[in-house]
Amino acid sequence: MTAPHKIPARERVIVALDVPDLASLDAFLGRLEGQPAFYKIGLELFVAEGERAVELVKKRGGRLFLDLKLHDIPETVARTVTAAARIDADFLTVHTSGGYEMLRRAAEAAAGRPKILGVTVLTSLLEEDLRAEGIELSVAETVRARARVAARAGIPGLVCSSHEIDAAREVSRDLLLIVPGIRPSSGEAATNGDQKRVSTAAQAITHGADHIVVGRPIRDAADPARAFAALVAEVEAATARA
Ligand code: C5P
Repeated sequence: MTAPHKIPARERVIVALDVPDLASLDAFLGRLEGQPAFYKIGLELFVAEGERAVELVKKRGGRLFLDLKLHDIPETVARTVTAAARIDADFLTVHTSGGYEMLRRAAEAAAGRPKILGVTVLTSLLEEDLRAEGIELSVAETVRARARVAARAGIPGLVCSSHEIDAAREVSRDLLLIVPGIRPSSGEAATNGDQKRVSTAAQAITHGADHIVVGRPIRDAADPARAFAALVAEVEAATARA
């Protein structure tokens, strides 16, 4: 199933800026040579540098994904979304496991900008991790159940692995689907690190991802700008085939 949203290939590859401080951020952005069109700031960098990191990224142009993965009582999440909305990011994440009311209040507080994305099941988890929490569903069934709650709450997009795209699209074809856990198909050694439900960029796009999120395969590459360009080419080829 192809993604229903028409997005340029360069914007479909979101680069995770998983670095500890402003100096490493500046160095990493330099090595990317202004090529990416969509950057993600996650917890590590945001906790360390806050809006200083946002400003540095914005100077480079491009869209911004604030990956704060909020999960708290509805009132706290709603107030945090309101505070984060000042940053003018395109996307902001919350955990769908926070429940209907938390999701509804997050969507209401954002009022469309940033777009709230619901993290379904982290790509570092497997079915056995769900079992350990007493969840008897498969990962795909859990994603489908959480996607239903999120869609009902007015959440416009989800984060899931490539393996659950069909389950999410069954709930709503209009949801924006963002897929992390991307690993190279060839070339530099494919190391998964803590990611468990992985796929290549081509697989994710062919299954219907709107965006992929790539961290270590770009950050740790000998030439990050080249690694990014190779991923964009892979996305373009997969889109043409889809
Ligand atoms: O290095 P790697 O490509 O595995 O980076 C994955 C990035 O995507 C990290 O920044 C991580 O926070 C993020 N992410 C994820 N799984 C999710 C949501 C976000 O791995 N479900």
